[in-house]
Amino acid sequence: MDFKDQVKSAVDLVSVIGEYVRLKKSGTQRYVGLCPFHSEKTPSFSVHVARQFYHCFSCGAHGDVFGFLMQIEGVGFFEALKTLADRCGMPMPKRSLAADEDSKLRSALFQMHELALANFRENLRGATGAEARAYLQRRGLRPETIDQFGLGYAEGSGRRLLRIFEQQGFDRSQVEASGLVRKREDGTFYDYFRNRLMFPIHSESGKVIGFGGRALAAEDNPKYLNSPETRLYQKSHVLYNLHRAKEGIRAQDRTILVEGYMDAIGVTAAGFHPVVAVCGTALGSHQVQTLRRLSHRVVLNFDPDMAGAKAAEKYINVLLDESMQVRIMELDADLDPDEYCLERGAAAYQERLEKAKGYFYWMADRARAAQDPNDPDARVAVLRQLVPVVRRIPDKLERMQAAEDLAGYIGVERGTVLDQFRQAVATRQETVIERPKAVLRADERLLLNAFFNLPEIGAHMIRELKPIESIGRFTSRRIFQTIFAMADAGSELRFEEIHARLEEADQNLLAQAVLAEDSETSREDVLAAIESIRRSESLYQRSELKVRIKELERTGNWEEALRLMGELQAIEKEVRDRA
Ligand code: UTP
Ligand code: MN
Repeated sequence: MDFKDQVKSAVDLVSVIGEYVRLKKSGTQRYVGLCPFHSEKTPSFSVHVARQFYHCFSCGAHGDVFGFLMQIEGVGFFEALKTLADRCGMPMPKRSLAADEDSKLRSALFQMHELALANFRENLRGATGAEARAYLQRRGLRPETIDQFGLGYAEGSGRRLLRIFEQQGFDRSQVEASGLVRKREDGTFYDYFRNRLMFPIHSESGKVIGFGGRALAAEDNPKYLNSPETRLYQKSHVLYNLHRAKEGIRAQDRTILVEGYMDAIGVTAAGFHPVVAVCGTALGSHQVQTLRRLSHRVVLNFDPDMAGAKAAEKYINVLLDESMQVRIMELDADLDPDEYCLERGAAAYQERLEKAKGYFYWMADRARAAQDPNDPDARVAVLRQLVPVVRRIPDKLERMQAAEDLAGYIGVERGTVLDQFRQAVATRQETVIERPKAVLRADERLLLNAFFNLPEIGAHMIRELKPIESIGRFTSRRIFQTIFAMADAGSELRFEEIHARLEEADQNLLAQAVLAEDSETSREDVLAAIESIRRSESLYQRSELKVRIKELERTGNWEEALRLMGELQAIEKEVRDRA
């Protein structure tokens, strides 16, 4: 076994994938969930425990644990291998350290971010960190929260990280690519973050990939300075606190989405774990897709001011476009989520959370508040404002339902609503990818599974099946032919190897067979299936022969007819002998 196989057999694919996708057990060997690689409402993404592979029957994404990590984290093979090896405490063998350039760069950037994190945290504890410590205390952060979130302080000299990176022997181009150090016009370098409170930003798998730096004095601008985009950090892909929140999001089946770093920290510190924020950008579809893998439900909890409401409206549109179920959580007394938790406590926050309303009730309230209550057309005006929002709901049934609910809530007649919505409802384009499915017969599935479940009779199966012509009429014929060819060549009949040699359509079929898992395959079932295929084969041959003999007799070709009759008798004798 090479290192790759050792790692593969040491990690559990289901638990790796389970960190990114809500999986449900379905059968003894199978888990299913919504595919993380395309947008869908019914699960077509399956993971097979024993075969350690995943397959999406809708978009066709498939692979093993390395493929999954590469695709979902957007990394190369080397990094996927290293991540998994680290995960199970297996040191990478020396010779595999010959990584490609990109992996080398990423690995250097990870190290620099770790060094920066350690330095910022040390500063916060040390003499230069006094002001930052006092600030955090004023904001009510407990020492364990400061630790948990890895908060730190970037000192003001502007050369600290630069020195550390130089001492560690990183070369100039790597240092520049880190985003932690900038280049001046004259070619000299300086630290990007100076005299700021530092918030590390992590990837979904928990590696530090960037920082947000908050000014300590109100007059310092900007209030937050964020890492620039680097090879590790793409703002539009990252959600602050996701690596800590994801387990809670899956468990509670909802995300609390807040605006600021401090909100995410404060709400978590109050005991609410499924909370994330975007990092100084607008919410994008990529981030929503990440959340949707974990849960379809999101509660927006923004600052209770105009800016917060405006941001919420924007977020709602993006979330609806990705089929999320959106609620709005409103806080009173002009407190932002962090302040609210500090001042009112967790129980009060919990109550607001449970009272969160469906987004369109919230929007209707807002639209209504902006109308003159004495205007007889106000209700219809409110309705008209909400049409574009409802139109964004991708699912037709949900869209209709939302329209009806809204009519009841605003108090307009159902007919008026339907008029308003008929067009909206009709014009939305559905985006459903459905692949036509070729369906395997039960005996094909059984036999294919048997190759993997009962390797001890594999050779026997091949011997018996190979001469049977009707295999050539199976939907899965090319899979059998591949297996036969591999057996001829003396290859081991392992799932991965067979799967790898198939065309995509046949990979789909094989996945179908393996993931169907009708029941345990037993030796007896397999032998019975072979027997029955053989029997129907001879039935088929006999009827074919009879037709041909008739035809020959009709045209007077007696000689050939006699020869075929001989063949027919031989087959019939063979059937009698077997019975
Ligand atoms: P807020 O101003 O609400 O920040 O901006 P906050 O996190 O609640 O911090 P406090 O409570 O005022 O200390 C919300 C988010 O917008 C981004 C940051 O991600 C911030 O957390 N932002 C804000 C910036 O990127 N740059 C800025 O200058 C301001
Ligand atoms: Mn705030």
